[in-house]
Amino acid sequence: MTESITYSLDVNGGELVVVDGHLGESLLYVLRERLGLAGAKNACEQGECGSCSVLLDGELVCSCLVMAAAATGCAITTIEGLTPDGALSDVQQAFIDAGAVQCGFCTPGLIVAVHDMLERDDSTVEVEIRERLAGNLCRCTGYGRILEAVNLVASRRAEATDGH
Ligand code: FES
Ligand code: FES
Repeated sequence: MTESITYSLDVNGGELVVVDGHLGESLLYVLRERLGLAGAKNACEQGECGSCSVLLDGELVCSCLVMAAAATGCAITTIEGLTPDGALSDVQQAFIDAGAVQCGFCTPGLIVAVHDMLERDDSTVEVEIRERLAGNLCRCTGYGRILEAVNLVASRRAEATDGH
């Protein structure tokens, strides 16, 4: 049995303490089971599906592949922290408006990934979007409505920028 450890993580702008953790626990496990942040989903635990996506110091990662104790000192952003007040982000609203959510299991990871993608590059070229979201698998939608949602966010952001 491994020795338990206590450490803190910077999650969504606040310090959260992990009590009686274990060194080998993944960030996904700790977020969900120890810190009560169940937004990131556990589908494969092998880095294959993207359902557990979070941002670690601004980089999109599969939280199932990151050791939680190694993430001390990093800024972790989960789906729960995308907006400061818990309101829907524009990406979440677009997923709803485009009907891009079916069972919803892939949705939190996809939304984190789309936020990250649009921060880096707002191209709406379909093949590029497909390529950049290739790490996030969805078994339900066939991806068409997810692409619609991405285009909706991009066009709404462009309109908002043009309007100012
Ligand atoms: S649960 Fe992490 S990539 Fe699938
Ligand atoms: S909506 Fe079911 S896996 Fe994507």
